[in-house]
Amino acid sequence: MIKKINVLYFSATGTTKKVASKVAEAVRDGLSQGGAGEIPTEFFNVSQPQAREKTYTFGNDELLICAFPVNAGRIPNLLLPFVKGNIRGEGAFAIEVVTFGNRAFDDALIEMKMILEENGFTSEAAGAFSCRHSFSEILGAGRPDEEDLKEAETLGKAAAEKLLKAESDGSDSKAATGTFAVDGNPELPGYYRPQDRYGNPINILKVVPKTDMSKCKRCFECAKVCTMGSISFDDPAVMTGKCIKCNACLRVCPTGAKYFDDPGYILHKTELEEMYAGRRAENRLFY
Ligand SMILES: Cc1cc2nc3c(=O)[nH]c(=O)nc-3n(C[C@H](O)[C@H](O)[C@H](O)COP(=O)(O)O)c2cc1C
Repeated sequence: MIKKINVLYFSATGTTKKVASKVAEAVRDGLSQGGAGEIPTEFFNVSQPQAREKTYTFGNDELLICAFPVNAGRIPNLLLPFVKGNIRGEGAFAIEVVTFGNRAFDDALIEMKMILEENGFTSEAAGAFSCRHSFSEILGAGRPDEEDLKEAETLGKAAAEKLLKAESDGSDSKAATGTFAVDGNPELPGYYRPQDRYGNPINILKVVPKTDMSKCKRCFECAKVCTMGSISFDDPAVMTGKCIKCNACLRVCPTGAKYFDDPGYILHKTELEEMYAGRRAENRLFY
């Protein structure tokens, strides 16, 4: 039986953490209502580079809720070496969670599920949740909301039921929990390429945030939250490494000194807002 629930998450602007925490709470409650007793939950925040230097290994009496945001329809590509190499399951169970910004999750969920299964996990359930887009105030605004968190709860409860059933059947966990499919192309044909509504490509790969030094108070909150560890602790206007446009620095800055003004970035953001802000993308649960 499950002795420990683990939540390993990357979350630059907080939505992924929120969804994963709700899933974890629901699994824990579901297991304890099914007679499993109080099960401890541990959180592993891998949003900063130091945390991604370690390897995380989970045993066959543990459940991992592994949660990442979708970037360009996939698991953020700079995080792939970590996900592939440093999250190991020695027969542990997993729930894969991805969050996306009201456009689409494309192949991110299937990618995560395939990697974790390759790394020794048995998948119990998986979900893709539409949240606020990191680039925008209006794209998926306010999400995850109550309705989304109810669906996160449904996912957690379903996983708990499967685990309890496996336990009561007394059968081999893999056979008892069974396999399930998720949406996405297992061939992982490529990354979503930003484009305008006419299909013209927009290249934002080299874009980095700028800093208005007349507003900056040198509190270095931006450097502390930078998910790539790329903002200099000597001068917050200086980028020392790569930027994935996660927007953590913009959201944390207390004076609004960080901003993007690259015309391609602004165009991409505007096009996404004009194409997708008027709808509510659905969450998808698989188990
Ligand atoms: C570089 C980048 C690429 C993204 N690509 C997609 C995408 O392909 N589809 C989508 O719907 N959302 C996309 N998003 C939005 C994020 O997946 C979404 O906002 C997510 O909830 C952010 O999680 P966080 O709040 O935990 O950081 C992208 C965000 C960033 C920063």
